[in-house]
Amino acid sequence: MADSKANILVAFYSRDGSVEALAKAVAEGARGAGAEVRVRRVPDIVSAAVMAHVPGWEERSKRMLAAYGAPTLADVEWADGIVWGTPTRFGNTSAELKAFIDSLGGLWFQGKLNGKASGVFTSTAGPHGGNETTLVSMYIPMAHLGFIIVPNGYTHGKLVEGHGTPYGSSSMSGQHSAPPTPDELEVARHQGGRITQVAAALKAAR
Ligand SMILES: Cc1cc2nc3c(=O)[nH]c(=O)nc-3n(C[C@H](O)[C@H](O)[C@H](O)COP(=O)(O)O)c2cc1C
Repeated sequence: MADSKANILVAFYSRDGSVEALAKAVAEGARGAGAEVRVRRVPDIVSAAVMAHVPGWEERSKRMLAAYGAPTLADVEWADGIVWGTPTRFGNTSAELKAFIDSLGGLWFQGKLNGKASGVFTSTAGPHGGNETTLVSMYIPMAHLGFIIVPNGYTHGKLVEGHGTPYGSSSMSGQHSAPPTPDELEVARHQGGRITQVAAALKAAR
């Protein structure tokens, strides 16, 4: 019988650590549901001058790239499910994560992304700073690339209470880069488990 254990890639961008914390929780949930998991942080693309503008950005970037490595096309091909995380940038996906998504044209052309499960998560500063618009903006390339989009829905009590969104997990960091709350992390873990279940079922059906 074919191995139906799902391979899950968590690919994210983060500068202040909120999306990184959500990524770790998504990975934890995926592992808990039986997945083999790779966590990767996409590289920076803004100038060194921009990165030097805020104390801590350069140091955290170096630490995260050393800890996780950057995602590769081989990671994407390996994965049965991919969960994408980005900070909100003016109500939208970060250019850093989008640049990696834009590098998937070759895999798309070969039909290699068809039928992989895909989910999204984000962090904003404000409660109405565009968390939902960011998450939905990521659905658009997912649809073009042939992924099976897996939303959170209201599949966990914490979502019904308003932690995270039906589109994907989220956290609100405020003015001082507050880390995700335990409730927000619980939703992210739930998302990792849910995408693993869907990815494993799709793999078994192939
Ligand atoms: C260039 C830029 C644009 C941003 N745009 C928004 C925004 O539209 N809405 C919002 O709530 N926060 C915005 N933020 C704040 C980040 O999305 C927020 O601090 C997030 O938690 C950072 O995630 P991280 O800790 O993983 O880097 C922006 C930050 C930067 C640097």
